[in-house]
Amino acid sequence: MKTDIRLTEADLARQLRADALHGLTSDPKWLPPKWFYDATGSKLFERITELEEYYPTRAERAILVERASEIARITGAKTLVELGSGSSEKTRLLLDALHGHGTLARFVPLDVSESALREAAHAIDDEYPGIDVHAIVGDFTSHLDGIPAGDGRMVAFLGGTIGNLMPAERAEFFARLRAVLHHGEWLLLGTDLVKDRATLIDAYDDAAGVTAEFNRNVLRVLNRELDADFPVDEFDHVAVWDDVNEWIEMRLRATRDMAVRVRALGLDLTFARGEQMRTEISAKFRREGVQEELEQAGFAVSEWWTDRESRFALTLATAT
Ligand code: SAH
Ligand code: AVI
Repeated sequence: MKTDIRLTEADLARQLRADALHGLTSDPKWLPPKWFYDATGSKLFERITELEEYYPTRAERAILVERASEIARITGAKTLVELGSGSSEKTRLLLDALHGHGTLARFVPLDVSESALREAAHAIDDEYPGIDVHAIVGDFTSHLDGIPAGDGRMVAFLGGTIGNLMPAERAEFFARLRAVLHHGEWLLLGTDLVKDRATLIDAYDDAAGVTAEFNRNVLRVLNRELDADFPVDEFDHVAVWDDVNEWIEMRLRATRDMAVRVRALGLDLTFARGEQMRTEISAKFRREGVQEELEQAGFAVSEWWTDRESRFALTLATAT
């Protein structure tokens, strides 16, 4: 097994400082969702995927169970690349199908969370002896050029993580991805779909408070990495459905007036009681929108599959 480090600890430290400085001095304040995923955040996300209210993982898994062999037959992929791979749990369905089809030679998981990546890549390396595992610690918005060259590649971007990018970032991401793929190579994209507000809010504000802990974890990351003193438990978790943009917004709300120091940045911040800071968007999609964004970037949609309740979609697209 090979591991490429495209993002060193020093790169991450530099980026976190830049993102925190930018976001925390904006009005309103905000932070990019990428910083949720230290080892604790990655574990919290895994707990989210097991919650009754959080349907996306189960819905996407159901589609993969039904369609994995069709995906293997249509694509005949030799290399499976997975962006934002995390635990790669559902990905085993694709690995099994491609392996069974007899084409798969290589698996390339890429994730910013080194701990989650290493754990998953080692497990897959053990479980699939005939497959070459090439893990990449990297950022899917800037390290797509680290995807090994070749032909017959399929890039899986599962879980609906595409929805955590802002629309302009999404367009740039799709264009960059198209640029590293050859004509005829494949993208398998998971997108959560627009649905009733109550289902969406419950999925992002679960009764057990796991999503709240995941959200607050970003403050723990800032406290540890930037020597900040956010009183983590004095921020409330907020999940809002924005029906104009059709995205869920996660925010942290200060429960009192407070002063916060971010020593590593020499930054003194104030929060007013009730002030809200955005920590994530999670966009929800419609079929036409997904198709339009992909076509705009130079992909053609080959298949669109949903689960039985049309909660989540998997799109198989080819680079034109
Ligand atoms: N694909 C998995 C995990 C989704 S959680 C699933 O479907 O369940 C989102 C994953 O994306 C996390 O593992 C997180 O570490 C990773 N991630 C978030 N932002 C990223 C970025 N900018 N570059 C690379 N990985 C990122
Ligand atoms: C990783 N991503 C697709 C998740 C989502 O649903 O947007 C992250 C998450 N945020 C809150 N719960 C889960």
